[in-house]
Amino acid sequence: MREFIDIIVVDDSREICRLIQDSFERENNTRLTAVYTAADAIKALKEQKFDVALLDINLPDYDGRDLLRDLHKEYPDLLCAMITGEDSPRSAVKALQEGAFGYFTKPFVLEEVVHDVKNAVEKRNLIRQLKVSRARVIQQEKMAIIGQLAAGVAHEVNNPVGFINSNLTTLKKYFGRLREFVTAQDAALQQHSSSDTVNELRKKLKIDYILADIADLIDESQDGAERIKKIVEDLKLFSRQDSGQTEMADINEVMASALNIAWNELKYKCTVNKELGKLPLTICSSQKLSQVFINILVNGAHAIAKNGEINITTAQRQNEIIVTISDSGCGMSKEVAAKIFDPFFTTKEAGKGTGLGMSVAAEIIKAHSGRIEVDSTPGRGTTFTIIIPVRE
Ligand SMILES: Nc1ncnc2c1ncn2[C@@H]1O[C@H](COP(=O)(O)OP(=O)(O)OP(=O)(O)O)[C@@H](O)[C@H]1O
Ligand SMILES: [Mg+2]
Repeated sequence: MREFIDIIVVDDSREICRLIQDSFERENNTRLTAVYTAADAIKALKEQKFDVALLDINLPDYDGRDLLRDLHKEYPDLLCAMITGEDSPRSAVKALQEGAFGYFTKPFVLEEVVHDVKNAVEKRNLIRQLKVSRARVIQQEKMAIIGQLAAGVAHEVNNPVGFINSNLTTLKKYFGRLREFVTAQDAALQQHSSSDTVNELRKKLKIDYILADIADLIDESQDGAERIKKIVEDLKLFSRQDSGQTEMADINEVMASALNIAWNELKYKCTVNKELGKLPLTICSSQKLSQVFINILVNGAHAIAKNGEINITTAQRQNEIIVTISDSGCGMSKEVAAKIFDPFFTTKEAGKGTGLGMSVAAEIIKAHSGRIEVDSTPGRGTTFTIIIPVRE
């Protein structure tokens, strides 16, 4: 939160501007800018972020009430109040309906204006904090529910995958013997006259092809079952109930499991290159770090239209572990990059992103006494660098 309250006064009476300026000057946490026309107000607001706007109704170039409505649309966070000589209840009600927090009629008590402005800002800050902490709770609950679901699925899938795996191994062995037997039988049969009919049938039923194919089918199924087993293991790691707790872990393994979980989002968008250096075991929450990597990987995939690349490196530098994740996606402007760690900041359309991914990531890295940095070039891509001190 910024320490200063930035206020803009829009009033064509320099006298009023000066009075207001004087009374806010005594407050050491406010900064005041005075402009005399609506046009100058719009210009100033484009150049600087203000917390509060005090608007006169009778401006030389515009109606202050229309300005209020425009500003409210353009800057929903800006707190506006009217300062006016027009002491009409109707006009006051209208201004309040348009979202003004106050309606001060001249001659007004300056202390009251100062008091109300500070109150409005305080209220807004409290509401903001409340929203952020609520969202955090929701996010944590969401993770806990996903964790439970994942644990449940992992548990349910574990058993059948286990017997599929073991049956496939047995099947492979049996099939090897069966093939050996059929080959021997075939050799024996060739010496009898009855072999003509058998040979015909063998062709018709494509037995030679089947014998070759069955081996491939079993091998493929074994690969598939192996993959399911790995995914189940990753889900278990991800959903570990003691997730808030820390353990000794190899960050390369955490990365590998995060990649497996994010794979669905990545596989059609990009190739993934890894250059994983040898890392010491370090005390960390592997579940939380996995979440950080997943959030960054998924963002990377979202930034790539198609045929992109994600490069991952890990290395140890003195007493730190350095992880970089780069994508060849759309990149972002300096303005966007400056905000990505703010909760709720998203450029994705409503319903597509909550804008919490990177703020949660930043918090998790902070809890590991680490740092997370972003370097991005619009049109070329983005690199996230995570630096975590080794704790043995
Ligand atoms: N790799 C990236 N390339 C380009 N822009 C990115 C990248 N990572 C993050 N951003 C920008 O940062 C914003 C915030 O990211 P964040 O992960 O916090 O939220 P989100 O992805 O919009 O939503 P969600 O909460 O679902 O993750 C994104 O909307 C996007 O504009
Ligand atoms: Mg995201």
